[in-house]
Amino acid sequence: MHNVTAVGVIGAGQMGGGIAQVAAVSGFTTVVYDTSPEQLAGCQKLHDKLLARAIEKGRMSADEVKAAKDRLTYVTDLHYLAESDCFVEAIVENAEVKAKVWGEVAGMGKAGALLASNTSSISITEIATAVGERAPHFIGMHFFNPVPVMKLVEVIKGLETSDETTERTIALAEAMGKTPVPANDRAGFVSNRILMPMINEAFYTWMEGVAEPEHIDEIMKLGMAHPMGPLRLADFIGLDTCAHIMNVMANGLNNDRYRPCPLLRQLVTAGRLGDKTGRGVFEYGK
Ligand code: CAA
Ligand code: NAD
Repeated sequence: MHNVTAVGVIGAGQMGGGIAQVAAVSGFTTVVYDTSPEQLAGCQKLHDKLLARAIEKGRMSADEVKAAKDRLTYVTDLHYLAESDCFVEAIVENAEVKAKVWGEVAGMGKAGALLASNTSSISITEIATAVGERAPHFIGMHFFNPVPVMKLVEVIKGLETSDETTERTIALAEAMGKTPVPANDRAGFVSNRILMPMINEAFYTWMEGVAEPEHIDEIMKLGMAHPMGPLRLADFIGLDTCAHIMNVMANGLNNDRYRPCPLLRQLVTAGRLGDKTGRGVFEYGK
């Protein structure tokens, strides 16, 4: 049993927004927190659009959508999450920024609350040090993008994570309609240890002039049956996030072969972060 009725989501970006939507649709009272009112407004707008689409497609009734929306609140003050039985953090992939937020969460909320990070690559054992004696309640709960569509949740135990926390997280992921799969606490876990080097190699392939970006993606889509080519997928994930993940793996696995490709770093420096800024490898307009 997960024993969760109220979920607090920290971060209203593409992942936090998706997690909040899935939690509310699955029946949990859900409060989404972000420091940026613009991000919260964008998150709410996307929820409205995707839930309207769910009615159109016959996946949910109008009453079900209304009930899900009534369960959702958008806030710019972390203290509104104090009553949560489970916190899911999905802010920028940076260990120091995450530690700061988790330090604040550690001083609030219910003693038995689940503390879950949606980090793509950072050590769960390391982030858990920010919550002090609550580390046994801390776990990696790694959702995939787009959250409402993707079934996987990678579940990562830190060194201090209790078995009870792991069991509750598995039950919670299932209650959200997801399929939890365990992975150990090594940088990048399983998913990004394998996915990100492929994406990084696509940038090297482009940088070295082996093919144009469109052709690299076409080859991987048609030849490997991937739903998106690696460069399109990098834009979709966010080029900043891809570069952060590569650096976390280079440091965590102590191997420079994981360093982000210079061309990937250059695009990030130029502010071309992919879908979220309208331009990355490809152009998306507004
Ligand atoms: N949010 C919610 N739903 C979305 C969505 C989004 N951002 N994007 C697409 N969808 C939904 C659509 O609404 C549509 O559903 P309905 O038509 O039933 O309403 C469904 O997904 C299919 O969408 P489309 O027909 O528009 O397009 P598609 O068939 O090409 O599918 C896709 C889109 C599901 C994103 C597909 O291209 C895909 O699976 N891409 C690969 C995604 C992937 O690899 N994700 C993992 C990224 S790595 C990660 O998440 C981990 C990490 O740490 C970085
Ligand atoms: P994003 O850039 O879309 O959103 C991040 C959000 O965090 C923004 O809304 C920002 O305003 C907010 N934020 C930043 N600092 C904050 C703070 N101190 N307090 C509160 N809010 C803060 O990023 P994203 O793609 O949603 O990624 C979030 C996390 O999820 C990262 O750890 C990332 O690695 C992980 N993740 C990303 C993907 C993906 O495909 N993008 C997939 C799985 C996991």
